[in-house]
Amino acid sequence: MQLGLVRRIADDLRRERRVRRRAVLPPGSVAPSWSNTRRIISDPLTLLLEHERRYGPVFTIRLLHEPIVWAVGAEVNHQILVSEFNAFRWREGRFADLWPLLGDGLLNIDGAYHRDFRMLMLPAFHREYIEGVVATMIEEAIAAAQRLEQGQEVEIYHWVRELALRIALRGLLGLDVTGGREQPLAKAFEASLAIHGEPILVQMLPLPRLPLARAIAARRALDALVWAEIEERRRRGEPGRGVLGLLLATTDDSGSPLPTGVVRDQAVTLLFAGHDTTTTTFTFLLYELGRGRAAREAVEQELEEVIGRRVPTAAELDGHALPVLERALKETLRCYPAAWVGPRRSIRDVTLGGVHVPADIGVHYSSWATHHLGSLYPDPFRFDPDRFLPEREAALPRGAYIPFGGGSRMCLGKRFAEYELRALAAVLLTRVRFELCPVEPPRIVTTPTLGPKGGLRFMVHGR
Ligand code: HEM
Repeated sequence: MQLGLVRRIADDLRRERRVRRRAVLPPGSVAPSWSNTRRIISDPLTLLLEHERRYGPVFTIRLLHEPIVWAVGAEVNHQILVSEFNAFRWREGRFADLWPLLGDGLLNIDGAYHRDFRMLMLPAFHREYIEGVVATMIEEAIAAAQRLEQGQEVEIYHWVRELALRIALRGLLGLDVTGGREQPLAKAFEASLAIHGEPILVQMLPLPRLPLARAIAARRALDALVWAEIEERRRRGEPGRGVLGLLLATTDDSGSPLPTGVVRDQAVTLLFAGHDTTTTTFTFLLYELGRGRAAREAVEQELEEVIGRRVPTAAELDGHALPVLERALKETLRCYPAAWVGPRRSIRDVTLGGVHVPADIGVHYSSWATHHLGSLYPDPFRFDPDRFLPEREAALPRGAYIPFGGGSRMCLGKRFAEYELRALAAVLLTRVRFELCPVEPPRIVTTPTLGPKGGLRFMVHGR
């Protein structure tokens, strides 16, 4: 393991020498800096905005030993996501850090292999299919609301996370959760992700009982459970529901089913991409509504008028029936885009925002930093859903608002996430009043998606 790390660093340094023999890196903090490396974990937004102000939309920051080119701004986002997307690969981007957990899932593959799997899973994200999952989302939200007690204090990030994971297990993987059958899987999955909240050096230490060893053990436990679920469905001769069902029903040209490891990687990737992100978004929606009376009252009034105490229908959650809620969600995703960074590696020379970026270097775009540029969003740190009034939203340049990425690798689960967020809001905000406990603005950590450090506490009141 230690040898692997040393070899990786040596390879990276050799690669950098090759790149710099024939090209100059974009300006920025090219020299090694422990402070920058620490800040990209502890406060990336400030670091990126400082660099953008000083160097423009494309700049370099060396993280540990490795120079990374960052792109911040509407034009460069559009180039990376759409017009120049084929200058990049994902596999060698920093999502590779999640490779030990995710394997060769959609987030870590490229080319035809990626395209084929995306096409294969796409039907599970069509509107009709997701409208079928809405009942599960609503059922889970109602049950979660019923478990809350009047006057109870709840740490909302973990509360939402548990709820979102149950929805993902049922809605995406089609898991049967009767009698708490999902608990061991949910626990192993969360344990294998826990390493990302640790300091970077601690994450790398291959010693017994430290986070890396715990993550490896958790991954083994997770794999055993996912494999058991797959084997069980195969034994029964029923692929079952959800994307897992789709994958298990698939055969190759010779009629053979997909290898179990392949199914496992895609399923675990969806589980990861599909619950961390919605958790972040819903938590910060509650936070912003908790501290901003006008926004909260506007959302509550609309829900009261359109839904009342009824169970919402899938059609009411399509994004048109509740425009005030929709704008609040969009603004939440602007301020706190859960997947805040898009890591890639350049595979050819490319010009971004007029700056030459050489082949074979890490290139990251950041929705979070772009969404906080004053030139695109005046007073960018203010929560203001009216930014998404139709005429103002239409005036945003392309590439300015990218919480779900864009182009051919736009978030596959966008529609699932949007329905889920609206369902949670429509059910929970009509049944529970969440009162934010007095708090300093939370420090936002990247674990690896955005989250409030130490969580956020709310007092629960009935409606
Ligand atoms: C609010 C919730 C969500 C946000 C903000 C979000 C954001 C994103 C972003 C920004 C990307 C592209 C990253 C890049 O360009 O490098 C992405 C990709 C992806 N997301 Fe989401 N996501 C959310 C929910 C979901 C859900 C619920 C699922 C699963 C059902 C999901 C599955 C995926 C997958 C599979 C990809 C990779 C797509 C590909 O490469 O073809 N996401 N997501």
